[in-house]
Amino acid sequence: MLHKLWSIFCIAFIQILLPLLNQKIYSMLETQNYIKENKQRFLEELIELLKIASVSADPAYKNEVLDCAEAVAKHLKNAGADQVEICTTPGNPIVFGEKIIDKKLPTVLVYGHYDVQPADPIELWKSGPFEPVVKKTEIHPEGAIFARGSADDKGQFFMHLKAFEAMMKTNILPCNVKFIIEGEEEVGSVSLAGFLEENKEKLACDVILISDTSLYNMEQPTVTTGLRGLSYVEVEVEGPNRDLHSGLYGGAVPNPINVLCQMIGSLIDDKGRITVEGFYDNVETVSDAERTEMNKLKDNPEAYKQEIGLKGLQGEEGYTTLERTSIRPTLDVNGIWGGYTGEGAKTVIPSKAFAKISMRLVPYQTPEEITGKFVNHFKKIAPDSVKLKVTPHHGGMPYVLKSDAPEFLAAKKAMEKAFGKEVLPFRSGGSIPITALFEQVLGAKSVLMGFGLSTDAIHSPNEHYGLSNFYKGIESIPYFFKYYTELKK
Ligand code: BES
Ligand code: MN
Ligand code: MN
Repeated sequence: MLHKLWSIFCIAFIQILLPLLNQKIYSMLETQNYIKENKQRFLEELIELLKIASVSADPAYKNEVLDCAEAVAKHLKNAGADQVEICTTPGNPIVFGEKIIDKKLPTVLVYGHYDVQPADPIELWKSGPFEPVVKKTEIHPEGAIFARGSADDKGQFFMHLKAFEAMMKTNILPCNVKFIIEGEEEVGSVSLAGFLEENKEKLACDVILISDTSLYNMEQPTVTTGLRGLSYVEVEVEGPNRDLHSGLYGGAVPNPINVLCQMIGSLIDDKGRITVEGFYDNVETVSDAERTEMNKLKDNPEAYKQEIGLKGLQGEEGYTTLERTSIRPTLDVNGIWGGYTGEGAKTVIPSKAFAKISMRLVPYQTPEEITGKFVNHFKKIAPDSVKLKVTPHHGGMPYVLKSDAPEFLAAKKAMEKAFGKEVLPFRSGGSIPITALFEQVLGAKSVLMGFGLSTDAIHSPNEHYGLSNFYKGIESIPYFFKYYTELKK
């Protein structure tokens, strides 16, 4: 009898008590220490990832895109994710991974994109776009990493892989986590939209966490609470059926370039308002209280002008720069071409002229509505003497997160912990169309906890990402997981 009791005790000791005694009690402090101790390796790994030219817009980089998806999957696996999968789509693959610790706990879905914008104009890069180098700059005395995708978005989604690794290694992951890192964000997330519909169960979550936006600046950290939508059209004006001698015909025929310029010129009036009929019909009127609140972010027009080499600013009357780039819709020509653009002079009236035009949208405009209104308006203002073609491109819905939402509050608290400063909400002018779709299909809000800066030169030559931004991001993320889980309990 005694013998039996003794053996039961021994078994219990080995199976229950010993592992308990052995299991170290980990804390956030150790997670943050792990991050500090592994900083250099994290940077080296990011550098390797940035060497892969995963340009989604150009089919010539198909192999690099696939290589990059594989590299991301490998990092996820090594960090401790389960079910890591490279999901094939009609376009570029989507990388998935997860760690489910308890179905009863909340689930955070981390989203990012491993595709990058094309590098051109390549001659304006001071070092190769896919040969990452760390250099000091005025804004980044600690150094910044120069490479295409460093800030948008490899350097940013990689923070999540490393924060996850740190939480796993120090045993503090407080809730479930899923990752989807896609490869088509820069070309409109076409495959992801279908993937969401087909994988609602697999992607089920309570919140989506995204680092693909910017801080207001390093002194004033912010959580992004708004993104603008997008409507994008390409227009073609056709005049004569062939190029004409500008002396023989000039004066008597419509020149499609002149016509297109006149049409475009009339789209914005002298108060900076867009003249497309009905353009402002559904624009949200932001309350005075909210406008006062958002303008607490210090606007420095002089520094703003100087940084981009401008003599003066321009925009819609009655709004600050901050408002013009966040709560107001815009219309901009992104490209315009036609006629002779080679060496020297060629006297010619071209047959055709073209332009690409983007419109940034705010709540409650929709891309379908605005594209429709643009097409109607543009047709109406075209003179009878020319033929007009308007082709709509991909668009996206605007997105807003309320600044009293628990998702926002958890991010604010997390960043305040890492920065030691008050963190304010900030509506950005950029677009991440998938956020509206996440809400529609998965029924979850997105938190835009981005760590870039507007000076990072994303989509531009010499894109870079500050090392302190990279590390502050990795530091903040485990706090978000902690505070979000606590808030949901
Ligand atoms: N990460 C950017 C969007 C962004 C950057 C938002 C900085 C806020 C601050 C994203 O990769 C992007 O470039 N989006 C495109 C839209 C897309 C449909 C091509 C954009 O905003 O032009
Ligand atoms: Mn991006
Ligand atoms: Mn981008």
